[in-house]
Amino acid sequence: MRITVKSGPQGRHGIRVVGGLQGERGLERLLPASTGRDRALRRLLEGAGFRGARNETAFLPHGRGWVLAVGLGKAKELSLDTTRQFAATAARTVRARGHTSLSLPVLKERGLGASELVAQALTEGALLGLYRYDALREVPKEDRAKRIDAVTLVVERPSETGPARRGVAKAEVLAEAVRLVRDLINGPANLVTPTVLANEARRIARRYRLRCQVTPFARLKRLGFGGIVGVGQGSAHPAQFIVLDYRPARPAPGLGGARVKATFALCGKGITFDSGGLSLKPSSKMEQMKCDMSGAAAVLGTVQAAAALKLPVRIIGIIAATENMPSGTAQRPGDVIKTLSGKTIEVINTDAEGRLVLADCLHYAKRYKPDAVIDVATLTGACVVALGSEAIGLMTKDETLAARINQAGKRTYERVWRLPLWDEYAPMMKSDIADIKNVSNTGEAGTITAAKFLEIFTEGLRWAHLDIAGTAWTEKGKPYVPKGAVGIGVRLLIQLLEDWK
Ligand code: BES
Ligand code: ZN
Ligand code: ZN
Repeated sequence: MRITVKSGPQGRHGIRVVGGLQGERGLERLLPASTGRDRALRRLLEGAGFRGARNETAFLPHGRGWVLAVGLGKAKELSLDTTRQFAATAARTVRARGHTSLSLPVLKERGLGASELVAQALTEGALLGLYRYDALREVPKEDRAKRIDAVTLVVERPSETGPARRGVAKAEVLAEAVRLVRDLINGPANLVTPTVLANEARRIARRYRLRCQVTPFARLKRLGFGGIVGVGQGSAHPAQFIVLDYRPARPAPGLGGARVKATFALCGKGITFDSGGLSLKPSSKMEQMKCDMSGAAAVLGTVQAAAALKLPVRIIGIIAATENMPSGTAQRPGDVIKTLSGKTIEVINTDAEGRLVLADCLHYAKRYKPDAVIDVATLTGACVVALGSEAIGLMTKDETLAARINQAGKRTYERVWRLPLWDEYAPMMKSDIADIKNVSNTGEAGTITAAKFLEIFTEGLRWAHLDIAGTAWTEKGKPYVPKGAVGIGVRLLIQLLEDWK
């Protein structure tokens, strides 16, 4: 699909899309401004009952072609996120009607900001909204002939085309990474195995000339990765430990250019299927546990996007990829394992496996002496209970890091909500025979105690934990998030890294 930027009148580039703002009594005004002066169109839309409510649509013949009006909601609630929704609703509606191209106005309204940002939001919305996962159907559910070939973003003045094109280019990189993340998560666990995740990392490394090191199961055993080995030993698909290292190209001598601003380690939970292990999960909704590698997928997508955008930061993606399965070789409740750090863990519940594999990842991150470490994990069901599907759980003791992640969350609308990491939550994990056990006695504050567990392995690190258990997967869908994998994390992390000073 081609996305181009043009200045001047909006017609002639496929279905013309206009925005409607909602007022107290129905439609307040139409956007862009030139459309607002089209009295005939306004009367036509009002006649069709169009009020401008968010994501409301009206598809009407007008002039020599068709016009699609999409509601933006109330003017004072306009934001870059409503802009994303606007573009997604428009693109999906046009596709469903069997048309192949559309033009979107680069909106200029209070609360939206520069053309570059609006163009980025429109492009993200259109590309992410049009995503579908139908690679596995013999006959695609939706007619595959129905597809959008071209989107034209229309700016008012020629001077805006440059900035708008920059916004489009950035959004194309982000959307490609998010699509990759969604494909990996939507892909069933018999197809997306630990080896497949490792091959995906290798593919990214080849394409962007990054360093990639994959350590297979047998070596992990010898090297003492007891957390990953304990979780992986019950599976027929061997666990893989993946390190994908992006270093920005050194600027040519004397030319100045970007210096490496900071080094980040991103740790991803990559459980390709979480059956619970011998502490087997109930069968209802167990199929959703193919999404338990969403953190790992987000890390892969973030490294890919950072490399494509040539961000001036070093990023080391550290991923533990394995299944959590019951079998004759699986770890048992009561087993004691020795992690890479040397600390021993009594495994009370084999379903609390994410923290076991992340213990090894976080300890491993120390060798890079990173400026910050962020782990991303579908870690706890308790996070789904506490925050539902709108907020990522954020836990860190570092106020500055918390503020920066929060800011990135607001800008991308991948919003985070902070939970405390007070030390009073910690003693619940004392074991009678090992250094710690992997679940707390009380069952209280499950998201926080899981984070307190991880904290033990982050000594000396500046660290933040993102629990995406509630936000990685959606049964409802939204205009730019079709049902299934959300692809959360990439836009948030790239925004954070971009804004890093
Ligand atoms: N992968 C799950 C958490 C999860 C639940 C992710 C729902 C996405 C949606 C995790 O490994 C798990 O099973 N956690 C247990 C921990 C408990 C045994 C202490 C949980 O949350 O129930
Ligand atoms: Zn589990
Ligand atoms: Zn899990």
